[in-house]
Amino acid sequence: MLTLTEIAENPHRLTTRLKPHGGSDVVLRPLTHADTGRLAEFLDALSSESRRFSTFGGYDLATAQELCDAIARYDKLRLVLEDVPSGRIVGLLEFSLALTPADIARYQDAGIRLTGTTDCRFGPTLADDYQGRGVGTLAFPLVTEVARLLGRTRIILWGGVRADNPRAIRYYEKNGFRPVGFFTEADGSRSLDMMLDLRPAPGPAGASTNVSDGVVTLSPLHVDDTDAHLAGEDELLVRRLNGGPGTRAGTEAYFRQCMEQWATGGPLRAFGVRVGDQAALAGTIDLRFEMPGLAPGQVNIAYGLYPAWRGQGLATRAVHLVCQYATAQGATQAVIQVDPENPASAAVAHRSGFTRTARIPDADGTRFDWYIRDLNESSGERHSAGDPS
Ligand SMILES: CC(C)(COP(=O)(O)OP(=O)(O)OC[C@H]1O[C@@H](n2cnc3c(N)ncnc32)[C@H](O)[C@@H]1OP(=O)(O)O)[C@@H](O)C(=O)NCCC(=O)NCCS
Repeated sequence: MLTLTEIAENPHRLTTRLKPHGGSDVVLRPLTHADTGRLAEFLDALSSESRRFSTFGGYDLATAQELCDAIARYDKLRLVLEDVPSGRIVGLLEFSLALTPADIARYQDAGIRLTGTTDCRFGPTLADDYQGRGVGTLAFPLVTEVARLLGRTRIILWGGVRADNPRAIRYYEKNGFRPVGFFTEADGSRSLDMMLDLRPAPGPAGASTNVSDGVVTLSPLHVDDTDAHLAGEDELLVRRLNGGPGTRAGTEAYFRQCMEQWATGGPLRAFGVRVGDQAALAGTIDLRFEMPGLAPGQVNIAYGLYPAWRGQGLATRAVHLVCQYATAQGATQAVIQVDPENPASAAVAHRSGFTRTARIPDADGTRFDWYIRDLNESSGERHSAGDPS
């Protein structure tokens, strides 16, 4: 996950050249300390209407100086659009990684629980002569990429959008935001909250990110699962997580990496194994579509249940479900690598229709038994543990 300091140290990491239709190229890049003067010119030139839609503390050199001084110091990331031939700043796209109590309360009223660690706020402003030319939309893929790189899975509008700003509302709508609810500004005018969810929608061929057999439900691991995971984890499980044995920071970092993989459609798909009406976290199961030693079409499965949930057939159910998901994603063969000293795991592999094929040393020389299952309909049905729906 990128930090604001890393971005400030290496702004090139987030620099993209855009080619607006019928105009000169623009570069989208992080604001830098050298931008103060040009940013002041940008703010100063904004019309009164633009200032009403995008409100800044001021529109002069002092404000520009403040924004530049804030680089990597608080919770804000500011990107600018720079017209290439002239070097003029023609847009300012702002992110805030912090939420306000007012945001949290408004969204709560709409039934949405905002999360400070995975939600962010976004507010764009283009120079008047750049509005309505598709430039905001052209820049939008980088906006979502930046949010993802910062570990965010949802974007809300910074301060909402005024109800009498149809162009901005249309802009957000066409870039995937959905309306959340109206609220009244201090001056009595109406504004609209809108939100964009970056988590992947259900994929093709019914490949939802959630799969369930009515007893066990698999859904993507989330950083909010950290407490339940730390409470359930025992020594058997700590080896499976990259973050080191049972530290909060390590677990959170790993879960965030899992979320980033979901958000970007990466090769790791890590699920929480959830049970019962409350969807209690009983363990984790993950798929790796890329791993040393895997042949094309093969996917690796690794699982672990917390002690209180073992011995009830839940891992077998989870393996069947994850195989359904992997099949829908195009995998043709599933692999479970079992430590020969772990008979419980070998039993799950057997019960889930896997056959032991070989004992293969992994990268650090540890030997694992490879269990393989062809992911076709008949093997899935033959070994079905429950009633997959
Ligand atoms: C909001 C803003 C960032 C959008 O960027 P942009 O480059 O102008 O947006 P785009 O041109 O990509 O898209 C605008 C869409 O609104 C449509 N639109 C323009 N004027 C409109 C109007 N009066 N009513 C309805 N739709 C309108 C455009 O046709 C386009 O939609 P389309 O592609 O379906 O035809 C930019 O206009 C801006 O900086 N506005 C002033 C500041 C502001 O309002 N910021 C947002 C604060 S919440």
